Amino acid sequence: MPESIISLHDKQFAPYLPYEQLTDAIRILAARLNEDYAGKQPLFVAVLNGSFMFAADLMKRLSIPCEVAFIRVASYEGTGSTGKVREVLGLQEDVKGRHLVLLEDIVDTGHTIRYLLDMLSSRGAASVEVACLLIKPECLQHELNIRYASISIPNEFVVGYGLDYDGLGRNYPDVYKAL
Ligand code: IMP
Repeated sequence: MPESIISLHDKQFAPYLPYEQLTDAIRILAARLNEDYAGKQPLFVAVLNGSFMFAADLMKRLSIPCEVAFIRVASYEGTGSTGKVREVLGLQEDVKGRHLVLLEDIVDTGHTIRYLLDMLSSRGAASVEVACLLIKPECLQHELNIRYASISIPNEFVVGYGLDYDGLGRNYPDVYKAL
């Protein structure tokens, strides 16, 4: 087996998106956010668990006054979305009148983002936008207006850079795809 292939549970994964490509995309995203949110003191809401590396690398490149909070939802079991989104760790911050940016590692069916957009808008946020590192446009099942989508990928199951396969794989700096 080539050294670069990783095995997680019953699957093997090959290198797909190197860390440098991810951080290049994040640098471009940060520049857009620095411009669009100047003077708005946005609250970035990182969707756990998958977005912890993305959120950390993005926040380090933001130079505007801003806050970060975390929310945890779950919808995936193994390599497929269950379609039902559960809030596992709620948002403590008052979002009324705030400009929010949801930070999501990957948008697949869009169930998670749809649920969060509806939930946060109903709590009186002034605006809610989505910034995602990866998006699988072929898999989207909702009409979502995602303003900040960094890297589009085909319908592949990927791990690494925060993304997991049943709990494993989050620790790798690069993104790998299932073989
Ligand atoms: P959605 O609700 O179907 O858009 O899925 C969003 C969530 O599913 C993401 O936050 C991930 O946690 C998970 N997910 C979607 N695609 C993948 C993948 O390829 N690898 C690992 N997790 C994924």
